[in-house]
Amino acid sequence: MNLTELNRIATAMVAPGKGILAADESSGTIKKRFDAIGVESTEGNRRDYREMLFRSKEAMNRYISGVILYDETIWQDAKDGTPLVKLIEQSGAIPGIKVDEGTQGLPMCPGETVTVGLDKLAERLKKYYERGARFAKWRAVIDIGSGIPSMTAISVNAHALARYAALCQAAQIVPIVEPEVLMDGDHDLDRCYEVTERVLNKTFQELRVQRVALEGMVLKPNMAISGKKCAKQASVEEVAEKTIRLLKACVPAAVPGVAFLSGGQSDEEATAHLNAMHKLGPLPWGLTFSYGRALQAAPQKAWSGKAENVVAGQNAFSHRARMNGLASKGEWQSSLEKKAA
Ligand code: 13P
Repeated sequence: MNLTELNRIATAMVAPGKGILAADESSGTIKKRFDAIGVESTEGNRRDYREMLFRSKEAMNRYISGVILYDETIWQDAKDGTPLVKLIEQSGAIPGIKVDEGTQGLPMCPGETVTVGLDKLAERLKKYYERGARFAKWRAVIDIGSGIPSMTAISVNAHALARYAALCQAAQIVPIVEPEVLMDGDHDLDRCYEVTERVLNKTFQELRVQRVALEGMVLKPNMAISGKKCAKQASVEEVAEKTIRLLKACVPAAVPGVAFLSGGQSDEEATAHLNAMHKLGPLPWGLTFSYGRALQAAPQKAWSGKAENVVAGQNAFSHRARMNGLASKGEWQSSLEKKAA
């Protein structure tokens, strides 16, 4: 393992002004997104959609540091035969790959899951590296509800995350470690804080036990935020303040970067929260976005599966990427959104 090189990649992934495009929706998830815009989820349509994103010059050259791909996409070619991975490399962004294989029900723990995909992971990582992937992603899912999460769910998911991270580093691939605490419930911000604190502490404990080099990874956490169905929604300032307090308490300064998931926040909320956190600096790690929905909802709608809408889709993507790029430096203002609209 070359740790200097892993650290160089991890640092580039969270460079100020840039962040990560999470375009690694599984076949099931992309179908849901396409259903919402009335597009059939065929291999061709998935390719055309992602090709549109990766050919968005302004977004890709200036605001996107890396792209997380799904297995199907990393092997796909653009319409003119250029591998999609090459399009990403040509823009100066780093190709990455989702390597977990989703969740399965956790025995004896009703309503909870464990993320799977460790079997044969070493062999798969080798092939992805040859294809150009320099980082990977593994998402663990922790739900908040009555009586959950259990310590069992937190523990097995942290263990799997660390196993994955160690295998990645041995394959010269930077692991994005993503323990996502869902924001779907009616819990308040304090409960999210308390659960996320337990999850992050257990995750870093496992990373240490399994000898993962913190200098060669990126953390992808949720923010400390109110559940979507909670009657009392915390303000932007409170989310920013509590999230930074939480991360400072749990994330060692040796970690080069933290890149948030958006988790169901609206586009503008996700941007405003990241921006507000940068007002609380200086911070010990790079802090940026690794958004899926909050970067893609607008371009998906603008495109709606029609070739004549490709430019509109690219403009919508470039706008969101620019807004989040500014937020990653604390330079975003809501007036910039209105001007564009
Ligand atoms: P969202 O930003 O839509 O939560 O997706 C990010 C991601 O990669 C989840 O694993």
